[in-house]
Amino acid sequence: MKNYREDFPILDLHVKGKKIIYLDSAATSQRPLAVLEAVEKYVQEENGNPHRGSHTLSLRATEAFDAARLKVQKFIGAKSTKEIIFTKNATEAINLVAYSYALDYLTKEDQIVITIAEHHANLVTWQQIARKTGAKLVYMYVDDQGRLPLKELEKINERTKLVACTHMSNVLGSIFPVSEVIKKAHEVGAKVLIDGAQAVPHMPVNVDEMDCDFYVFSGHKMYSLMGVGVLYGKEEILEKMQPFLYGGDMIEYVYEQETSFNELPYKFEAGTQGVESIVSLGAAIDYLHQVGFQNIHEREMALTKYALEELSKLSYIHIVGPTDLTNRGAVISFTVEGVHPHDVSMILDHYGVGVRAGHHCAQPLLRYLDVHACSRASFAFYNTKEEVDALVKNLDEVRRVMGYGTK
Ligand SMILES: Cc1ncc(COP(=O)(O)O)c(C=O)c1O
Repeated sequence: MKNYREDFPILDLHVKGKKIIYLDSAATSQRPLAVLEAVEKYVQEENGNPHRGSHTLSLRATEAFDAARLKVQKFIGAKSTKEIIFTKNATEAINLVAYSYALDYLTKEDQIVITIAEHHANLVTWQQIARKTGAKLVYMYVDDQGRLPLKELEKINERTKLVACTHMSNVLGSIFPVSEVIKKAHEVGAKVLIDGAQAVPHMPVNVDEMDCDFYVFSGHKMYSLMGVGVLYGKEEILEKMQPFLYGGDMIEYVYEQETSFNELPYKFEAGTQGVESIVSLGAAIDYLHQVGFQNIHEREMALTKYALEELSKLSYIHIVGPTDLTNRGAVISFTVEGVHPHDVSMILDHYGVGVRAGHHCAQPLLRYLDVHACSRASFAFYNTKEEVDALVKNLDEVRRVMGYGTK
């Protein structure tokens, strides 16, 4: 079995005298050498401002920029590069849909349906749109295993104009029934945005087959640099939308009092883009293909299964989310009885183990589950069984340090 850790120099780091154990890939993944080298090559040999010059470096930058867009298009199975808009991150992609689509099309007669498990990026944004348009914001709730029951989809009705749903929850790890959500939304004529931030690093996604209207994700959770996100939108919908940001490169002709806009996708990409990050996203896609999603899935699910089994042996641990592998990804949130998640995280860090603690940008979900805050271990294919063992062993240490027995 190939040891992919060799591809990630940062995983050799030592913190506080201990080899680092990085269990926070759902917050941001690490970057493989192939991505770093692609960026280095771009910066040293190709850097210019794309679409803004006819000299060699501007042309090279344009080529690198366009090549990355083509890779993204193929990666998610979009029909055309016109449907791929580069943004700063998933959050900005959601805001683009909110301000350029929803604000223009929704009224107080309408409703927006989302799930209680949305990341604040896909929740606060819709609250604001509901406030501005008068539309009603309706929630679909998860069951006690953190899965979305199909019965909740009945809330999508004739009044619904927009449904926004996560593909995989960043807290629960559950994979949501997005095909059913999309089908139901389309039956009543609503548009659907799927938040794929936690899905794209772990599973193949085909937006065309899925038939969603919008799909968003961030590069930094799928092995690219920070600073690049993607909005996929169906071409016919994007064509009808007004630009989100105004300025250079998104225009066709500018007069003193009016402007006509550039064609897709440039209409939505005002100003100089983060081309280094975009190039890194292209390289990350190449790398993901090289590792292969089947391989990624097998490794990550084996780790998740093992971690769920080992954590369930600790009577003081409570899993927040599904306890079996059905429709579940490599994110495990949990509470440690008697210990605040921030203490859990700080003490684990002392042993080199990095987990996330807090509300995970999902306060309404945690309130609904009656969990004040929790810890979260998230895995990538570069993690190992030994790292899961270290997490479990050091959770015992957490309890001991905090003055509890370990049983
Ligand atoms: C499910 C989900 N959606 C959206 C986001 C927002 O991503 P970003 O901060 O890169 O915009 C995150 C980040 O954690 C996430 O987990």
